[in-house]
Amino acid sequence: MDKTESDCQQESFSTRVIAEPFRKKDIHGAITLPIYRNAAFEFADSESIAAAFQNREEIPSHTYTRITNPSVENLENKIKAASGAQNVQAVASGMAAISNALMTIVYSGCNIVTSPHLFGNTFSFFKFTLAALGVEARMVNTDSLEEIEAAIDENTVAFFCELITNPHTEIADLEKISPILRAKNVPMIVDSTIVPWCGFSAAKFGADIEVVSTTKYISGGATSIGGAILDYGTFNWRKNKILGMYGKTPEMSQFSFRLKREIARNFGACMDPDVAYLQSLGMETLELRFKAVSDAAYEVATFLEAQPEVKKVGYTALESSPYKAISDKMFTTKPGAMITFNLESQEKCYQLMDRLQVIRRATNLFDNKSLIIHPYSTIYGTFSKDMKEKMGIEDNLLRLSVGLEGVEDLKRDLRQALDKL
Ligand SMILES: Cc1ncc(COP(=O)(O)O)c(C=O)c1O
Repeated sequence: MDKTESDCQQESFSTRVIAEPFRKKDIHGAITLPIYRNAAFEFADSESIAAAFQNREEIPSHTYTRITNPSVENLENKIKAASGAQNVQAVASGMAAISNALMTIVYSGCNIVTSPHLFGNTFSFFKFTLAALGVEARMVNTDSLEEIEAAIDENTVAFFCELITNPHTEIADLEKISPILRAKNVPMIVDSTIVPWCGFSAAKFGADIEVVSTTKYISGGATSIGGAILDYGTFNWRKNKILGMYGKTPEMSQFSFRLKREIARNFGACMDPDVAYLQSLGMETLELRFKAVSDAAYEVATFLEAQPEVKKVGYTALESSPYKAISDKMFTTKPGAMITFNLESQEKCYQLMDRLQVIRRATNLFDNKSLIIHPYSTIYGTFSKDMKEKMGIEDNLLRLSVGLEGVEDLKRDLRQALDKL
């Protein structure tokens, strides 16, 4: 029996994701969509292949995996079911999500209003790659509504921020920023990698476009690299100098139309079908894993705060965080697995890292394994001292991503390493 719309609204997050049907039933009745690991798709005759290429079909066929693929589409549909987004484009990485989304809206002479507190490659993409194309990144303090408003002008094509900045653990109050952007007709783009859809509803807080590194929570334990761009269909792109030239587009915004029909296929950073398969499985356990690591992270953050060698802990659910009220308002769970903490010096950070036995020294976030890194000397290691200062990266800060190990084992590992400092 078919489900009604109200049945779907009542379903839990995991039920919606797990129950999302394949577009076409598998001929063998496979319960998980098999991997379509092929490049090309065959057509019965020349008229039907022409119709597919000219977008004349009622239900679009797949033609070539760089453009669309059944396994990738299955992941996109699970993300739609999880988030309520109108359109989803899966791509090869989180950076491909950010670059493809921005390449869809920028033009020479435009600007983006953002924070200097960004993931290293995002900062580099804005400050170097886009700057070379004549796009200015206006970096403001996103805690200040006045600064945001003053930076916007008629050539502002987006406000961009990270949901919880990495590694500063700051949160922009999207609910308060949204009316300013609406009044000035500027879209809000949020990188929500740090808290997925089971803990945060982007559209509720005014995000028009969401970009995500699916490498992190979605991949199901660091199985693969991927990214996604979500369009909530909430923004009117008429005033964008490029997108405004697109007339009425079929069942999607001008943003998604250009992204899917031009930008994503021209840049060619498509998601691999094997990756889509792994990440579709990751989606099915996302809620369970996210809750487990978030609860454990809160416990580890509270523990770290009580250790005399630890100078400061960054985790937005802690009473000590200046962002606690915003964190409680925006997230329906504890805010994920990323914790930062400061020791006395870089030397102490290195000593602690070198003595850990359970927690691994590695970059990445939201693996099933707990990972630790010293951002100043690694992710930001090739930026100049001045640049690091501008980006707010401290040399005595460590970033910990809490995994699925027993939380008591993690605390014991941290304590024995602190004992040896
Ligand atoms: C907040 C954030 N956005 C984007 C990225 C880039 O993702 P990817 O490595 O999948 O390209 C990262 C990577 O760590 C990240 O932390």
